[in-house]
Amino acid sequence: MATTRFFIYLLAVSAILLLLNTNPTRGSGEKHAGRSLFVFGDSLFDVGNNNYFPTTFRVNHWPYGETYFKLPTGRASDGRIIPDFIAEFAKLPLIPPYLQPALNSYTNGVNFASGGAGALQETNNGSVIALKTQLSNFKNVEEKLRHKLGGEEAKRLLSQSVYIFSIGTNDYLSPLASHSTLLPLFHSNKQAYVDMVIGNLTYVVKEIYNRGGSKFGFLNLGRVGCFPKMRDRKPGREGACTDKVTTMVKLHNRKLSKVLSKLERRLKGFKYSMFDFYTCFGERLNDPSKYGFKEEKMACCGAGPYRGNSGSCGGEGIKYELCENPSDYLFFDPAHPTEAADKQFAMLMWSGNSHITGPHNLRTLFQL
Ligand SMILES: *[C@@H]1O[C@H](CO)[C@@H](O)[C@H](O)[C@H]1NC(C)=O
Ligand SMILES: *[C@@H]1O[C@H](CO)[C@@H](O)[C@H](O)[C@H]1NC(C)=O
Repeated sequence: MATTRFFIYLLAVSAILLLLNTNPTRGSGEKHAGRSLFVFGDSLFDVGNNNYFPTTFRVNHWPYGETYFKLPTGRASDGRIIPDFIAEFAKLPLIPPYLQPALNSYTNGVNFASGGAGALQETNNGSVIALKTQLSNFKNVEEKLRHKLGGEEAKRLLSQSVYIFSIGTNDYLSPLASHSTLLPLFHSNKQAYVDMVIGNLTYVVKEIYNRGGSKFGFLNLGRVGCFPKMRDRKPGREGACTDKVTTMVKLHNRKLSKVLSKLERRLKGFKYSMFDFYTCFGERLNDPSKYGFKEEKMACCGAGPYRGNSGSCGGEGIKYELCENPSDYLFFDPAHPTEAADKQFAMLMWSGNSHITGPHNLRTLFQL
């Protein structure tokens, strides 16, 4: 008697499982397969990779994280950053950092970004995961997905996934601060230097495309010369944005737009989204109150003029000032936006109109 009832129960359970598995809106039984988010880049996108190897580009100390996570996570912000919001809008869980110990599920995507990284291997060499190494890490993940899901299913997941990039800022900042072997080129031929940065980014994009990726999201470079740490301190020019970097940033942004539309013409099925970060950043610097900010020059957290001394927001033995309410500020630390600002940027990347984010926005890329 009891056994019959047990078998009926088993039958019912199997029927339900079968129904779930054959649900036509899900290609396979894998949860979320096909809507994954892979993240590449620098500190604007790093959700904690730099916590896991020795580097000075590290922000896993108080007061980073104070607003949302209530503890430092390795994000260069008081709270969530752009990839966190994009994941939320795409109805995905938070995408974990690649180096997180015991990470074993990759089906929602992975974050490879590293604070301080550039497209060039030379940029902050030895202290960061350069873009090309991020690509190698992606290839490892691809292997693991193939092993877990099988070749066909892995390929489908990769082709339906969205790949987002924030890279370039550090390629233009690090030569100013170091004795990079590329310093002579940086000074003598700005266009050649920019072409090299974009050339390395293009290489990585093509490699992902060759492995089945087809949906790519980018932002151009923001107002790097107006970061609190970049503001001029010379008497007479006090508080002005740094022109030298701004020249490079403009060259970079122009080249990036050109190269992306060329890739779209040349590579079958290649689709992309480009968020005009430069313009949106500028709008908030020029008219902060329109966007809900009270302070656009000074960082919320840091020390020195504009609280802009490099690496001055917390850390062992460092004296710093901290604002009351980070969401009043455009910048949280000397070089990174607050959560409030990042949320606005992420919303524009997600659903901005074609003047701001084009030819697709991320919402349409996820739907395609
Ligand atoms: C990076 O640094 C290592 C040692 O510090 C050096 O051997 C290597 O050539 C450097 N690579 C680049 C691309 O600068
Ligand atoms: C990539 O950058 C290196 C310097 O790190 C440079 O030698 C090389 O030419 C660049 N590649 C492309 C395709 O631009």
